[in-house]
Amino acid sequence: MKILNVVGARPNFMKVAPLHRAFGQHGGFESKIVHTGQHYDARMSDVFFEQLELPRPHYFLGVGGGSHTQQTARVMLEFEQVLSAEKPDAVLVVGDVNSTLACALVAAKEHLPVLHVEAGLRSGDRRMPEELNRILTDSLSDYLFVTEAAGLENLKRESVPDQKVFLVGNVMIDSLVYYLPKARSLNLLPALGVAPHSYVLMTMHRPANVDHEAGLRSIVQIVKNTVAHKQVLFPIHPRTLSNLEKFGLKTELDALPNLHLMEPQGYLEFLHLMENAALIITDSGGIQEETTYLKVPCLTFRDSTERPVTVELGTNYLLRDLDPTTVHEHLLTILAGNAKKGEVPPLWDGQAAGRIVEVLAGLYLG
Ligand code: UD1
Repeated sequence: MKILNVVGARPNFMKVAPLHRAFGQHGGFESKIVHTGQHYDARMSDVFFEQLELPRPHYFLGVGGGSHTQQTARVMLEFEQVLSAEKPDAVLVVGDVNSTLACALVAAKEHLPVLHVEAGLRSGDRRMPEELNRILTDSLSDYLFVTEAAGLENLKRESVPDQKVFLVGNVMIDSLVYYLPKARSLNLLPALGVAPHSYVLMTMHRPANVDHEAGLRSIVQIVKNTVAHKQVLFPIHPRTLSNLEKFGLKTELDALPNLHLMEPQGYLEFLHLMENAALIITDSGGIQEETTYLKVPCLTFRDSTERPVTVELGTNYLLRDLDPTTVHEHLLTILAGNAKKGEVPPLWDGQAAGRIVEVLAGLYLG
C-alpha cells in the first residue's frame, strides 16, 4: 500500500519521522514524503530532516510564505500534480498547519483516503488559523488518530462515527522518546554560560501575540522581568524577529543583560535546552506537550489550549493574556519550587506510530 506523508512546517517533521520509520519496519507499506516547503529556511526545515533521519523528500513543492490563502492555494495546485504522478493509496497528514488542510482537501477531492494524525484537538477559538485547519481536516478525513481523550469527545460532539476514530497516543512524543538519549549527549550549556535547571527558555511566534506592537511590548516587558531573576535563552522565530525589527523593539532586547537571543534551534538542541530548563515560556502548541512529558513547568500564552491534558495532568499553565504581572507571579512561585509536579498522559509512551501502522494494516492489508 502506497502512502504519501505530507510535511510542511517545522512542527510536522518530528511527527512524520516515527511514522515513516514504522511504515518501513512493517513491510506492507510504501511510504513517501512530500514536503510542501511552507517552511524553507535551513534552520526551520533542513536541520530537522538531518537530525530526525528522514530521507530527502520525494517531492519538494517549494511554496514558501505569503498570505494564508496564497500559501494554501499554492500547496493545493502543486499537490494535485503529485497525486496524479504518484497515484497513492492514501494521503497521511499531521497536525494543523496550512499544508495539512491543503493536502487533505486535494486528496479528498481525488477520492483518496485521508488519514489525519493528531486529530480531534479543538481550542474553541476560530480566530486561530490552526483551529480552522483542524476542523476542516477532520471533517475531510477517513481515519482520525487522536492523542488525548478530549479529542475523542470533540469528534463525538461533531458526529464523527466512532469506527473512524482511534486513540493512539502522541507521535511527537515518539520522536522525543527516541531522540532524548542523543539530545542528552549534547553539551550546549557551558558555551551559553548557564547551568542545568537554572535558566528560562522562551519561544514566541503566534500571530495573535507577535503581529502587533502591544503584544511585542508585553513580551519585551516579560523578558525584562524575567532576566532580573534568571538567564533567559530566547530562540527567535523568523516571524517574531521581523516584527521586533519592524516596531523598533529588537534594540531594547539587544541591550538586556542575561538574555541570549538565539537563532531557531535544531530538534536535538531544542530538546536538550527544554530538558535542562527551570521553566519554559511559550505560545507554541507542541511545546506544551513536550514539557508535560519532560515534567518541566511551562507557561503558555494563549487564550485557550487545544491540548487540555497538558494543563489537567501535565506541567502546563495557561496564561490568558500577555500580562507581565501574572507571568511574574507564576515565575516566582515556580522558581520557589512550588510548580505542579505533573503526570505523563496515557499512551504517550513512544509507541503511537506503531499503533497507527497496526490499525492501518488491519484496515487495508487485512
Ligand atoms: C506555522 C503554522 C503554525 C506553527 C508554526 C511553527 C500555519 C497556519 N501556521 O506558522 O501552526 O505553529 O508554523 O513555526 O500553518 N518564514 C521564514 N522561514 C521559514 C519559514 C517561515 O522566514 O523557513 C517566515 C515566512 O516567510 C513568514 C513567517 O515566517 O513571513 C511565517 O511563516 P508561516 O509558514 O506563514 O507561518 P508560521 O508563523 O511559521
